[in-house]
Amino acid sequence: MAVDLLLGLQWGDEGKGKIVDVLTSKYNIIARFQGGPNAGHTLVFNGMKHVLHTIPSGIFHEDAINLVGNGVVIDPVIFKKELDKLAEQHVDYKKSLYISRKAHIILPTHRLLDAASETAKGKAKIGSTLKGIGPTYMDKTGRNGIRVGDLELADWKEKYRALANKHEAMINFYNVEIQYDLKELENEFFEAVKVLKSLKLIDSEEYIFQAQKDGKTILAEGAQGSLLDIDFGTYPFVTSSNTTAAGACTGLGVAPNKIGDVFGIFKAYTTRVGSGPFPTELFDKDGETMAKVGHEFGATTGRPRRCGWLDLVALKYACQVNGVTQLMMMKADVLSGFKTLKVCTAYKYKGETITHLPYNIEPENVEPIYTDFKGWAADLTEMSEASQMPDELNAYIAFLEKELETPITIVSVGPDRKQTIFR
Ligand code: IMP
Repeated sequence: MAVDLLLGLQWGDEGKGKIVDVLTSKYNIIARFQGGPNAGHTLVFNGMKHVLHTIPSGIFHEDAINLVGNGVVIDPVIFKKELDKLAEQHVDYKKSLYISRKAHIILPTHRLLDAASETAKGKAKIGSTLKGIGPTYMDKTGRNGIRVGDLELADWKEKYRALANKHEAMINFYNVEIQYDLKELENEFFEAVKVLKSLKLIDSEEYIFQAQKDGKTILAEGAQGSLLDIDFGTYPFVTSSNTTAAGACTGLGVAPNKIGDVFGIFKAYTTRVGSGPFPTELFDKDGETMAKVGHEFGATTGRPRRCGWLDLVALKYACQVNGVTQLMMMKADVLSGFKTLKVCTAYKYKGETITHLPYNIEPENVEPIYTDFKGWAADLTEMSEASQMPDELNAYIAFLEKELETPITIVSVGPDRKQTIFR
């Protein structure tokens, strides 16, 4: 069976967790392939809100296996907290959660290094979630990392000590004020490692291979968004993994010719958290309304998200890089009440009008060119059928489908599982 992918097409926070949760009943296995606890996937059902960071969004469905793939970086401390929350809700994760032995471990000193690096950057800081993501992927590609499988070896603590010592020297090199008590952090870390080791640790690429052979249905769940991809995103204001479709191949061991559908998730407008260019960003009342109505605060850090109009130039680019086969539009309900909606269809770039994403989209290089659409007044949050959608929303969708040459198969009109319109 082919593996379907689900990815964010903007700067993250598109609502991927909700759609994975909605689609899970169609899949035997849900697999995360990159990122780590920098992600915050929010799921709402039965009047309860759940936020997952590293654990795949299929965990609340009894019959699904949830795999944390080799491309993910795991902080045992945060992972344990997630498990504790699941246990409180009587989720039997022991039987449904598998972890790749090849996934890398975030050490307490990785988090400290993240903080030191960001502090040293001053105004040029990335706006990292400070979860140690960058330093952990640096150790992975630098061939110094500690993997889940290492935890099963007798000498892993020696390897840990050597790496932690090196990190401490690097923190000192940054020469910035960072307060920490490593002993305390390590006690918590070693306790959490014991819990991680008690889970089902597997050779995940073999598991995925056999599952495909056995005809099992697999959904690969992306984290962050395509514009935060280490190669194709707005570098250096990106995360440290491949958030695009290719990341599922390297982060799970899925062969490129075994990829089936690619579900691209996007918001009906755009948000970004952290630093970096954002051509359609709004600094006016409209932006404030989006932030307020859309509750645009980070699920991991609580930081306010920057808001702006939909950027079709960037969205087209993300569809291209990922080979998106179906689009899913989130938070359409947030746009109710706007008299006029704007969609950026081109950029003014060095005196020319262009419709592709150029190398540099800093505000001094790029000015968005907008097409206006009539807004709708109707509250969408109670709607469950496509036939109930207002004409203006249908016109907005029809335009996007034509421009992106891809069907929009789901329109989400609220955070709850039930607030989902299939088209
Ligand atoms: P890091 O991955 O925590 O180092 O953060 C790098 C950049 O990616 C920062 O701008 C973060 O705000 C952003 N980022 C990381 N993870 C997420 C996410 O899950 N949603 C939205 N933005 C994210």
